[in-house]
Amino acid sequence: MAGNAVGLGNFLRFPVQAVNNGGGAFIIPYLVCFLLMGIPLLWIEWSMGRFGGRNGNHSTPFILDTMTKRAFWKYFGVFGIFTNIAVAAYYCYIESWTMSYVWHSIAGTFDGLSQTQVAKFFTDYVDVSVSHTGIPHEAIVFYILCLLLNTWILSRGLAGVERAAKIGMPLLILFGVFLALRGITLGTSGASAEVPGASAWDGLNFLWTPQFSSLSDPKVWLAAAGQIFFTLSVGMGTIHCYAAYVRSKDDIALNAVSAGFMNEFVEVVLGSLIVIPIAAGYLGLDWVKANAGFGMAFQTMPFLFEKWGPFLSAAAGVMWFGLLFFAGITSSLAMGTPWMGFMRDEFGWGRNKGAWSFGLIVLLLGLPTVIFFQQGVFDEYDYWAGTVALVVFALAETILFSWVFGIDKGWKELLSGSDLKVPTIYKFIIKYITPLLLLLVFMGALFTPVGNDWSGALQGVFNGQGWTLDNSSIIKTITNSGLHEQLAAATTPADVERLTDRLFYTNMARMLLLLTFVGLSLLVYLAGLRRLRSTSKRVAA
Ligand code: PHE
Repeated sequence: MAGNAVGLGNFLRFPVQAVNNGGGAFIIPYLVCFLLMGIPLLWIEWSMGRFGGRNGNHSTPFILDTMTKRAFWKYFGVFGIFTNIAVAAYYCYIESWTMSYVWHSIAGTFDGLSQTQVAKFFTDYVDVSVSHTGIPHEAIVFYILCLLLNTWILSRGLAGVERAAKIGMPLLILFGVFLALRGITLGTSGASAEVPGASAWDGLNFLWTPQFSSLSDPKVWLAAAGQIFFTLSVGMGTIHCYAAYVRSKDDIALNAVSAGFMNEFVEVVLGSLIVIPIAAGYLGLDWVKANAGFGMAFQTMPFLFEKWGPFLSAAAGVMWFGLLFFAGITSSLAMGTPWMGFMRDEFGWGRNKGAWSFGLIVLLLGLPTVIFFQQGVFDEYDYWAGTVALVVFALAETILFSWVFGIDKGWKELLSGSDLKVPTIYKFIIKYITPLLLLLVFMGALFTPVGNDWSGALQGVFNGQGWTLDNSSIIKTITNSGLHEQLAAATTPADVERLTDRLFYTNMARMLLLLTFVGLSLLVYLAGLRRLRSTSKRVAA
């Protein structure tokens, strides 16, 4: 479970989110979201999973189905397979970058390159139309290699996944601690003639000086909630699947929080002690604020490592990208398990068939993110599958757990076999606070006001000016309103072409996601029919 949760989100997404949302201003909403949404969702999902497993179900459609009498809930459960497949499609792409960068760190590709050259290496890498990194179509080659490795491990079943976690997790922590020590000890020694005032402390202070002003900013809350979902892997069905294999007498309450806290340690402590202080230590905090993006990890870190001399720079590169690789693979393996569990339960597919079919679907869905990366397919997947779907499913399952299944039954399920005295206040939180917050987050994303200015928008409503949606709101995103505006304002033919392309590939990405969702729903429908037939046969017999 910790391997599942600890992932690229901890080292790539968290620092970027923190910096972009005001550093210390982000931390308080983030921790509150962890306590009021993260932990409750972990408990809900572990309880649902173990409950489902006891009834022979290892994926969300039929876990949800056994918790209620109404047939439509199992279609909400489709999210629990869909999201994993769709996230795996683009997640494995980042994972494949880390593989390739380990190789390039060993091969010394970055030796003696300037900062712009290292950055350019990355932009060349993701531009698959030309091959300029030494290996023809390297991005595609490494993507397929990475997927093959995932599929092969998955074909060994849960034992394979467990093995990977047992090797990957300790190494990841070891590499992380080493790099974090560098982040802590760098201080002002990285300052140079070009950036005289650079200091790693600035980076740490920026992250760790709490700012209470942000507490009233819904934008920061939305970002914090989104990060909590992603990093804990809640709202996706992965936890249900793992928990379905927990023995019915075993504890889940304590295990759920230990896995959660383990993830938070890696995220909040290790995740914030590496990229931000090291980059601020050499390039200054202003540079970090202006350039925060996950390209930082690939475009800048290899260059900064070069300053540590040839041997240490190769070692640091291997550790940094190796750490990312282990974090990534133990998560992407988790994403394969719901599909495999579902096909096994419903159609009797063994683990070989389950794993290879997963690999194939991910390949088909993932290749467009690789080939059309620059046209925005990747971002589109991350938005719909990696962000919106999590909130929708989390909201649905919380309502199901607390209100349909019933909090009393749910609470009993959580406490059965528990090694932890769960504070009773959480019964109240799970029933009222968590669903309410989830609803707020969802509405906030749906109706984000223009400029993300909530107080201005509310005042506007009182003054009778109505509510103007921001282009980043879900509603405006569906209609591609931002892209259309840019297109209307475009002046050069090149811009027009680029934006028209983008529009096309954005819609294509959505169609692919939709098709996947519909296809999975169909399978769930078929599985439902099969179940009906087999019970009626049993009744007849
Ligand atoms: N939690 C993982 C991360 O932080 C991502 C993940 C999502 C893993 C969904 C499994 C399932 O990177």
